[in-house]
Amino acid sequence: MNVSYNFREELCIDHTPGAGAIVIFGASGDLTKRKLLPAIFSLFKRGLLSPKVAVVGVARTAMTHEEFRQEVQTSILGTQEPTAEEAAFIERFSYVAGQYTEASTYVALRDELERVAEAHCTGGNALFYLAMPPELFEPIVRELHGAQLLEEVGSWSRVIIEKPFGHDLESAIALDAALKQYITEEQTYRIDHYLGKETVQNILMLRFANAIFEPLWNRKYIERVEITVAEELGVEKRAGYYDGAGALRDMVQNHMIQVLSLIAMEPPASFNADDYRDEIAKLISSIRGLHRQNLSDISVRGQYVESTTEDRPAVEYRKEENVPPTSMTETYVALKLFIDNWRWRDVPFYLRTGKRLPKKSSEIAITFKPIPHSIFKPFHAKDFNQNVLVLRMQPNEGMGLSLEVKSPGSKLSVNTLEMNFSYSDSMALSDIPDAYERLILDGLLGDQTLFVRNDAVEKSWRLFKPLLEAWARNDEETPLCFYPAFSEGPTEAEELLEGGSWRWREI
Ligand code: BG6
Repeated sequence: MNVSYNFREELCIDHTPGAGAIVIFGASGDLTKRKLLPAIFSLFKRGLLSPKVAVVGVARTAMTHEEFRQEVQTSILGTQEPTAEEAAFIERFSYVAGQYTEASTYVALRDELERVAEAHCTGGNALFYLAMPPELFEPIVRELHGAQLLEEVGSWSRVIIEKPFGHDLESAIALDAALKQYITEEQTYRIDHYLGKETVQNILMLRFANAIFEPLWNRKYIERVEITVAEELGVEKRAGYYDGAGALRDMVQNHMIQVLSLIAMEPPASFNADDYRDEIAKLISSIRGLHRQNLSDISVRGQYVESTTEDRPAVEYRKEENVPPTSMTETYVALKLFIDNWRWRDVPFYLRTGKRLPKKSSEIAITFKPIPHSIFKPFHAKDFNQNVLVLRMQPNEGMGLSLEVKSPGSKLSVNTLEMNFSYSDSMALSDIPDAYERLILDGLLGDQTLFVRNDAVEKSWRLFKPLLEAWARNDEETPLCFYPAFSEGPTEAEELLEGGSWRWREI
């Protein structure tokens, strides 16, 4: 599609954070290498990191500063030689080795932070990024507190934590209470990387910076909303975590509920962190409760079995490395949710996510109601396709709108036109920053808007509690269904859509 995009500088607010040290716990881990280091490097390349930003890695492996810098260089540049500018940037990285639960590690960290404050003028500010398993959140924050690294006297200290924020409602409440002994909510940055995705952020811009959508954005004109987050990959090497979590905890309770909230929330009073997160919390509170009696009508859980196509072999989930052969963990979830408020009452929101589906594809499809009456006899209203607005989160980020049009020629012929726009169609929009880039930047800026507030976490756990409990008991009404790897998911999920009279969109 031919896209014309007019960049208006006067409507661009670019914040560049000031001084500070980014401290990465789990510096030799996978997330650091795959996401955090490339994100920090990209911020540097975009000119968004002040020269007063330094990075300190913390991990158990014994390593010198120089060895760590070598690792950093390999993660961000591969075998390519750094330019002089890049080499100078890598010099701003340093390393502290130690056990996460030992006070001596934090004494060494404090010394290192004092050194970088001198060397790079970080002003004593620190953004602690805990790229760690959740059982270490509390011990690390406790030790940071013990070493007086969380005090904010003339400087700031913030802590970014990665999901999972608890395993269920009770553990989420306990985790929060444990952390609150040492840090305030204002210092706590709970990351949900979906909120950092450009296309997810664009949902709000689309809704509230255009006059044409909002009048239609309600139960009067929208028939149903379908949110899909499909992955082609299986559990890979993560069974240790994933088998104890499952798709509902891994994807739905956090990422998908946040996306649903952005689609369905009321306009916030402003785009500041509290106004915005108030609306998210309000929306989650309005989702109709799940009860033991309705679980079988609104949920399907599935697990992948061996692929049935020869050219795409894949083993069943239960034979993946470190997965118990009797595992009941769901790798697929489909849900039908309702939002009990004036705007959405009785509009179904269908959510589905899974591993080993045909391909990676995340989208939101909003289907509008049929036209009320046809003037084009002999065609009836039901002969016309309903308009569907599709917001594609990944890949091929963009949006599409289907419209009924007349085909040229014969007097009456109706056709469906798909208007498709991809970010990549416009050079100016094609350079989409990674979610972690945006979130690290916001952490440095002290902007909590795109971080999840504690009340949203708890409300979401509360919502799914009955379902998680039923699955844990293996209730007969909520059986585990099986689907071949790379299929569209369990056939039972079709039944969720008005008893099978609608179809899921093809992945
Ligand atoms: C993570 C989940 O939060 O999100 C993973 O733990 C999942 O299981 C990933 O694969 C998906 O993220 P993205 O950005 O690739 O859609």
